[in-house]
Parts: sequence; structure tokens; C-alpha cells
Amino acid sequence: MNLLRTKPLETVFAEAESGTLRRALGPWNLISLGIGAIIGVGIFVLTGTAAAANAGPAIVLSFVLSAFGCVFAGLCYAEFASMIPVAGSAYTYGYATLGEIFAWIIGWDLVLEYAFGAATVASGWSANFSGLMATLGIEIPPQLIDTPGTELVKYQGRWTPLATLAGIDTTGMPHATAAFNLVAFVAILVVTAVLVLGIEESATLNTVLVAVKVATVLVFIGVAAIFVSAHPDLARQNLHPFIPPNEGVFGKFGWSGIARGASVIFFAYIGFDAVSTAAQEAKDPQRDMPIGILGSLAICTVLYIVVAGLLTAIVPYRRLMVAAPVALGMDATGVSWGGTLVRFGTILGLSTTMLVMLLGQSRVFYAMSRDGLLPASAGAIHPTRKTPWISTIIVGIVVAFFGATIPIGTLGDLVNIGTLLAFVIVSAGVWMLRSRRPDLPRPFRAPWMPFTPIMGILVSAGLMASLPFATWMRLIVWLVVGLVVYFTYGQSHSKIANR
Ligand code: ALA
Repeated sequence: MNLLRTKPLETVFAEAESGTLRRALGPWNLISLGIGAIIGVGIFVLTGTAAAANAGPAIVLSFVLSAFGCVFAGLCYAEFASMIPVAGSAYTYGYATLGEIFAWIIGWDLVLEYAFGAATVASGWSANFSGLMATLGIEIPPQLIDTPGTELVKYQGRWTPLATLAGIDTTGMPHATAAFNLVAFVAILVVTAVLVLGIEESATLNTVLVAVKVATVLVFIGVAAIFVSAHPDLARQNLHPFIPPNEGVFGKFGWSGIARGASVIFFAYIGFDAVSTAAQEAKDPQRDMPIGILGSLAICTVLYIVVAGLLTAIVPYRRLMVAAPVALGMDATGVSWGGTLVRFGTILGLSTTMLVMLLGQSRVFYAMSRDGLLPASAGAIHPTRKTPWISTIIVGIVVAFFGATIPIGTLGDLVNIGTLLAFVIVSAGVWMLRSRRPDLPRPFRAPWMPFTPIMGILVSAGLMASLPFATWMRLIVWLVVGLVVYFTYGQSHSKIANR
């Protein structure tokens, strides 16, 4: 039994060439895929939470800090993705460098990022969608808009989780208990259907929706900038003190608050690596993978920092603990159509995040099944649609259940820890491969070796360390379940082992 057998890179390349996925994506498709995955619940929801509870106006610094951490991992992903441009992302890199058992662990771990990521966003989508419907006078039964057992209160015309209304006297307001988040469930199934239709259809829809999403962000920036320049005194007042003094607890304002804020909004950056899962569908992956990964990360970083700065200049940070803080910021500028536009943009925008996350997940399963570690059906390609349709459908149904039943906070923490673990492994893999296979052509080379991967490892591990103990326990349970699956199925069916 050789758990550390690696897949020869020559085999990896040969398979990529004979693959049945369609090479249809150019550089702009890839950047838009990246932005599609990145801009989502993080900026539209968590910015408010982290500003109100952790960092205050210094949330801008949290965004800078978090981006700083992502850049190192991003550079490592870019090197790998241009060098090994095949489906499966970190899983495939792991197989070629660290060995089968590690590849399995990474593949299994990526489920936390992509499948649970899509479920998390579906949960946020549901809250925004039901909120917008309520604004339009359409009430979705509260039992169907949140996870089982969540206590909801009808506050200002909208069903709102009781837990977010701390300090507000809710006696006398209608109460309800949610039973199943049907809205999130249906959202995931619709996105799944699009993915089965085809990569070009998915990429086209993604490009259109990403344009809407970026336009929404830009309109907010434009309106907010005009408002701030017309009300400089208000902005100055809201931004003061820029770093609110620490309240005696780690992570509640002060410098530790900036650090905690960075680990909360790390979620906002997740997704640039999803570009690498589509490497086998890129027309010119050697050139375009780094462009897609680093380009999308750079664009989103700039947008995030500007949005966070303007938002905290318009609204006092303590008021930002709401489900739709950016829309609240728009409302505060007094532009009457602004809030509704942002709410629409958020809903359409979050759809692309789900789309790209699910796309990434099905491509990882495709790669794992091609290697024999998962049943062949998971990698079956539809004869005309050319998509891994069976894995897409199974993943879609399972994710829909997760999104409908697991609370958003639990999901989000799992996504963070799973992604960070993948960042650690990818950074280590790039470093290792430089010394083991210096001969391999590297169309993109991560700069400052070995500083870049070391920083990728340290920053990611540091952010992991700041996550709750319960999340670590869930990660360990998840990985143990994965190992049981590996030893009962993958290990004996592995194509490399049986070659
Ligand atoms: N970065 C993605 C989001 O914020 C996952 O929703």
C-alpha cells in the first residue's frame, strides 16, 4: 500500500490533452469567473458585521490585511495553474507533488470551500431575496426562508433573525420559527440546471451577471463618493475615531479588532482560486490562468477597500450590523432608487458566486473520478452538453440541502477553514515542486522564492488559528470521514495504483 504514490506530471499533461471538456474560456471569461466567485456575501453582508462588531472604520485596514494574505496564496495558485493547467485545481497539484493521500485530503477539503461555499452564499441570497420581496409587498412564509429552528421576528416589515436584533424590544412583534430554507434550496437547484446546460452557457450568463454585480458596486461607489464630497463633516465624524479603542476583549475594536475583522472578511476574497478549477476549459491556460487568478483578485481588492471606506464614511459603523449594509448605505445617501438597485444587484450578483462555486466543485469531483478515487459516474461527461452532469446534479442536490438546513455562520466558518487549509497545501506544494522538479516549464513563476510560499503558509495558518474551536472539530470530523471513504473505496480503485 503506497499512500504517497504521485501521479507523473507527464500523465497529468497527457490526460489534459485528451480531456473531453471544451476549451472555450478566454482571459476575460476567466477574470469574470474569478470576480463571479469573489464578490458576494463577503462585501455585501460581512463588511457591515465586521465593521460593527470588530474594526469600526478601520475595517478598511482589515481588507488590506486580508488581501495581503491572499496575494501570496494567489501567486502560488497562479504558478501551479499555468504549469499544470488541468481540471481539479489544488487536488491535481497535490497528486502530482505530495502524493495520493494528500491529494485525496485536498480534494475532500475543497468540498468545504466550494460546496459549502455555495451553500453559504445560498443562505445569504435567501435573506436578501426575501427582504427584497417584502419591500415589494410579497411575503414569503417565514417558515421557508431560514434554517430549521431559527427564531424570526417581523421587524420593520421584514422577517429578521431574532439573534440579529440584540438590544431591540421585540415583544408584541409577530414571531415565527423557520423549518426549511426553501428559498436557498430552489436557488441552488436553478444554478445547477444552468451548469448542466453547458460551460459556454454558464460562462455567458456569468459574464452578464458579473457585469451587473460590478456595475452595482460602481454605482454605489459613485453615489457614495458624491455624497461624501458634499458632506465632508459628516464623513469626518463617522470616520472618527478611525480605530475605535479596544473594549477589553480580543477582537473587539483596537488593533486586535482589525485582525479579527480581517479573518471575518477573508470570506470576501475566497474564489480567485476557483479560476484554477476551470484550467482545462481555458483556451490558453499557460498565459491566461495567472491573468484570471491575479486579475480578479486585484480588481476585487481595490473595489472592496473603496466600498468599505465609503460605507463607513456614510453610516456610523455601529449601525451596520444588518443583512444588507451596502443597501443601507445607499438609503443613507437619500438617493431613492439606490437601495432597491443595490438589493437587486446583490441578488443577481450572489447568483454568480453560487454558479462558480458549484462549477469548481463539479470539476474537482470530475478530476477525482477520472483518477479512480471516486466512482466513474462522478466524472461522466454529457454527450452533447460536455459537462460533468452527474456530479453537477448530485453536488447541486446535496448543496441545496446544506444551504437549506445548516446556519450561515457555521457554513461560513467551515468554508474559511477549508479554503485556508487548501492555501497552506498549495503554497507548500509550489515550494516543494521548485526543488523537486526545477526542470518543468513554468510559464508563470511566483516571485520572491521561498518568501512567497512561506508567507502563504504562515498567513493562512494564522487565520486558521483565529477560527473557533468548534470549526476545527468539524474540520477534523470532515477529514476523518473523507479518510474512511478513501480507505474503503479510493485507495483500491486508484488508477495509478492499478496501472
Ligand atoms: N467571496 C465569496 C463571497 O463573498 C465567497 O460570497
